[in-house]
Amino acid sequence: MFTPPFKSMAVSLQFPLIFTILLLFISFCHSKHTFRPHALVLPVSKDASTHQYLTHIKQRTPLVSIKLVMDLGGLFLWVDCDQGYVSSSYFPAHCRSAPCSLAKANGCGECFSAPKPGCNNNTCGMFPANTVNGPATSGELAQDVVSVQSTNGKNPGPVVSVPHFIFTCGSTFLLEGLASGATGMAGLSKAKIGMPSLFAAAFSLHRKFAICLTSAPSGNGVIFFGNRPYLMQPNIDISTSLIYTPLLNNPVSTAPVYSQGDPSYEYFIGVKSILVNNKHISVNKSLLSIHSDGFGGTKISTVNPYTVLATSIYNALTGAFVKEASYLPRVASVAPFGFCFNSKNLGSTRVGPPVPSIDLVLHSKKVFWRIFGANSMVQVSDNVLCLGFVDGGLNPRTSIVIGGYQLEDNLLQFDLATSRLGFSSSLLFRQTTCSNFNFTSSV
Ligand SMILES: *[C@@H]1O[C@H](CO)[C@@H](O)[C@H](O)[C@H]1NC(C)=O
Ligand SMILES: *[C@@H]1O[C@H](CO)[C@@H](O)[C@H](O)[C@H]1NC(C)=O
Ligand SMILES: *[C@@H]1O[C@H](CO)[C@@H](O)[C@H](O)[C@H]1NC(C)=O
Repeated sequence: MFTPPFKSMAVSLQFPLIFTILLLFISFCHSKHTFRPHALVLPVSKDASTHQYLTHIKQRTPLVSIKLVMDLGGLFLWVDCDQGYVSSSYFPAHCRSAPCSLAKANGCGECFSAPKPGCNNNTCGMFPANTVNGPATSGELAQDVVSVQSTNGKNPGPVVSVPHFIFTCGSTFLLEGLASGATGMAGLSKAKIGMPSLFAAAFSLHRKFAICLTSAPSGNGVIFFGNRPYLMQPNIDISTSLIYTPLLNNPVSTAPVYSQGDPSYEYFIGVKSILVNNKHISVNKSLLSIHSDGFGGTKISTVNPYTVLATSIYNALTGAFVKEASYLPRVASVAPFGFCFNSKNLGSTRVGPPVPSIDLVLHSKKVFWRIFGANSMVQVSDNVLCLGFVDGGLNPRTSIVIGGYQLEDNLLQFDLATSRLGFSSSLLFRQTTCSNFNFTSSV
């Protein structure tokens, strides 16, 4: 007679238990797959012979580690698909599919050899380019698994994967002139298929990324995707007290191959004047603004090892520097530099050799990027220091290209959502460097 109530009691007791176990199980599986990182981290080293900055990611199925030349202004990730691209998760972008429209890739390609990664019919294509020394080609747009480490800002955390990360297939001949072992380039442009936007979209990260390049020959600098903190040993958050300036648009593409009407997806800032030892140098203001034909202005680049200046700016800067540094004995110049000095009795400071400061004055007189000796002087041999700027010719496309050496041991944060650059100036003042991120995983 008690059966029905007992039964129903048993059910009502058992159900929550099973339900809870089930829930636990589901949430366990769920959390494994949907751990949502706050930020991602990639190491960046400097290649001693080419002065290129190298990073690596894991891609494909099974995953392989690929070495890439970092290209801050590069439109997208491209890798060589001609040689050794084996992956069961490779997926060509079919014409008019979502990746093609995100990439603004019009047209529809055919390939007249055996199908393989980089060679499929009815796919859209892009123009992967070796931005170090020029060659470009056409290549299939594609998707594959990319796997990187997440971070809490202090250590690397769990590895996370993007199952369909968009990239372009390049060819082996594009690798010529890239650092040994590199099989492609990591394009960090502000385009929607630039790596920062793809990572941000995949994990709903803040649309920000930061670079901190190291000067240490055997150290690792870092790229962070996502928001701060960015912590360097000994526990210094280098993202505090940044100085901000707007990122500017250039209406005409600066890529090696582009379609009429494409804007530039590189990072331009508004240098308004230049000071050497707090004194203005005379520069043609017209060279400093970005014109409607895309000429002029100032961009930041990691494929130029040193800052490149239009000849008239170069002459004004080096002339003022030599005058202000008259205490430094000149010695024969060492290419690519035009001004070298005997540094024997020079001594040093926390921020490098004691030489006149160089300020890039930005959107307001109060906002400037100060370049100290550590970023202006290059040690080319014992006792010989050269001013690390090079002459870019009379009428270059971009008047000032701030190159890698001037970026080392500085934090630069690019905020794509608000179009602004945050920069730290030399971290050496704060007694840390870009090679002080703790790459020991916390998991
Ligand atoms: C693409 O289609 C053409 C015929 O239109 C064919 O000859 C070729 O083998 C195909 N290529 C691939 C990679 O399937
Ligand atoms: C300044 O630069 C512009 C190019 O942007 C050039 O057309 C002009 O002649 C230059 N002015 C002087 C005084 O050199
Ligand atoms: C680096 O991080 C690891 C993992 O959290 C920690 O055990 C180690 O002490 C850290 N190293 C330094 C020098 O702080």
